[in-house]
Amino acid sequence: MTDFVKVTTLDTLREGKGRAFTVEGRELALFLIAGVVYAIENLCPHQHIPVLAEGELCDTLLTCPMHGWRFDLATGRAVDASGRVTAYDVRIEGKDVLIALPDQETQQWW
Ligand code: FES
Repeated sequence: MTDFVKVTTLDTLREGKGRAFTVEGRELALFLIAGVVYAIENLCPHQHIPVLAEGELCDTLLTCPMHGWRFDLATGRAVDASGRVTAYDVRIEGKDVLIALPDQETQQWW
């Protein structure tokens, strides 16, 4: 089952920048790009460290600040290799930013 959980409010996000949050024990990275909020897990699958919120953006293409792995924020897919990060559905309610977090038991691992 998937529940939408409030993570933050829109006014805490900056256009073209990422920000890290921890929600229910999960490391999340949120990005505001052209008025759209994207949410992925913050852990880079290369070395499993929470750095993706600090990555560089070119539209929805995110580059990890550590070793340059690149991900499509819309899908979570790695661009240069196989693999992915989890991309979460985002819902905006008023000024609240909510993320669809599946139960830990039903989360898919790629
Ligand atoms: S930790 Fe992200 S590319 Fe190495």
